[in-house]
Amino acid sequence: MSEAEMRREDVIRKEILAGVAEIYALREAEKRFIPGTSKVNYAGRVFDEKEMRAAVDSLLDFWLTLGDKGTEFVEDFCVFHDLRYGLVTNSGSSANLIALSALCSPAFEGRLQKGDEVITTASAFPTTVNPILQNALTPVFIDIEEDTYNIDSSKIEAAISPKTRALMFAHTLGNPAQMDVIMDIARKNGLYVIEDTCDALDSKYGGQLCGTFGDIATYSFYAAHHITMGEGGALLTNNLSLYRQALSIRDWGRACFCRTGEDNPDGACGHRFEQKFVGLPDGYDHKYIYSNIGYNLKPLDLQCAIGIEQLKKLPEFTRKRRENFKVLYEDFQQYAEYFILPRALPKAEPSWFALPITVKENAGFTRKEIVTYLESKNIETRMLFSGNILRHPAYKNITCRIAGELTNTEQVMQRTFFIGVYPGLNDEKLDYIKNTLGGFFS
Ligand SMILES: Cc1ncc(COP(=O)(O)O)c(C=O)c1O
Repeated sequence: MSEAEMRREDVIRKEILAGVAEIYALREAEKRFIPGTSKVNYAGRVFDEKEMRAAVDSLLDFWLTLGDKGTEFVEDFCVFHDLRYGLVTNSGSSANLIALSALCSPAFEGRLQKGDEVITTASAFPTTVNPILQNALTPVFIDIEEDTYNIDSSKIEAAISPKTRALMFAHTLGNPAQMDVIMDIARKNGLYVIEDTCDALDSKYGGQLCGTFGDIATYSFYAAHHITMGEGGALLTNNLSLYRQALSIRDWGRACFCRTGEDNPDGACGHRFEQKFVGLPDGYDHKYIYSNIGYNLKPLDLQCAIGIEQLKKLPEFTRKRRENFKVLYEDFQQYAEYFILPRALPKAEPSWFALPITVKENAGFTRKEIVTYLESKNIETRMLFSGNILRHPAYKNITCRIAGELTNTEQVMQRTFFIGVYPGLNDEKLDYIKNTLGGFFS
């Protein structure tokens, strides 16, 4: 392009981006909350013209596949967590799959092998458990605590067998698990720890960010989560070998770590046609050498452009999540005879994903009754994911071990639900939730 053409492109781009900001402003001006008529979502995208402009700007570049924005987002995300290595994925589920697959990679020394056990919980989002099964490992289910909804750390040691190699669990709904005790047990028994931090971005335990305790942390940027790219996820680790396998598994299983489009003669490693691998022709293109049985789980660069803007807003999102949780929690306290309210451990600073509530057995009403009531008033509710995953059709015949009773897990299945605390809930909506709840009891 000539300089004049470049200047013209710049002008057009600026006009388009100004138009995008205007569209955002027009839509915002339209938004009104009408109690009883407008929906009170449990979660949702919280964004302004910055995310919309970033997405359109990236689209205008039309690079599309993972590129500079992906690199920038990963760098920012690693810096935020003070962890060395990271990669973006197309979902949190993919990040979980990659995490366990990396631990099973033949190229990872000390890898997990078929039939090895991974301790987890049956009160879970399915894709925290699925990678264990997908990698031919055996899940060992232990109970959760009744009111933190987290893996019960006091039950871990009794569940360990000679085959146990890892712990994989979520910080449920943003509430940090007892990481000091869990990491002590893991170190003592030589277990890997995978922290599913999909619902707990910016939550802390003992002043330390969730996701920075174990060997690998995973994150989700689905629209309901603490920050969003629409769909998306990430994996973080301080372990270079695990990172290399994770990257390979995300990118078709290839051995090469070039970025998309980085195909100059030498590639990123500088030895694209110079390597020797047993059984392969001398100098076979490193780009097409596979060291893992991989997938393609990459997001678009455009998603990362949105993520960069969202990450800048994370401190404010966290503040608002905590504030909303407090407002609703304090309101629920007056109904404590009917509900088990959530508890955070003394060292925990949750950035709550939602407010989990368990209807007491003797409440005089059922979960179905209160949930149906709230939904009829346009207040969204959700079950705590699978409740007890073992009760679901797909899991009926899985190979697993259950260590101890799953009493609290079963209670979640029967009587727990959650409502939102996300930053999109303003005072009007919070008041509406409180008044509506009051209406149920009056
Ligand atoms: C704890 C947990 N892990 C994993 C996931 C999967 O994330 P994604 O929807 O991005 O695949 C979720 C989804 O909400 C989740 O809550």
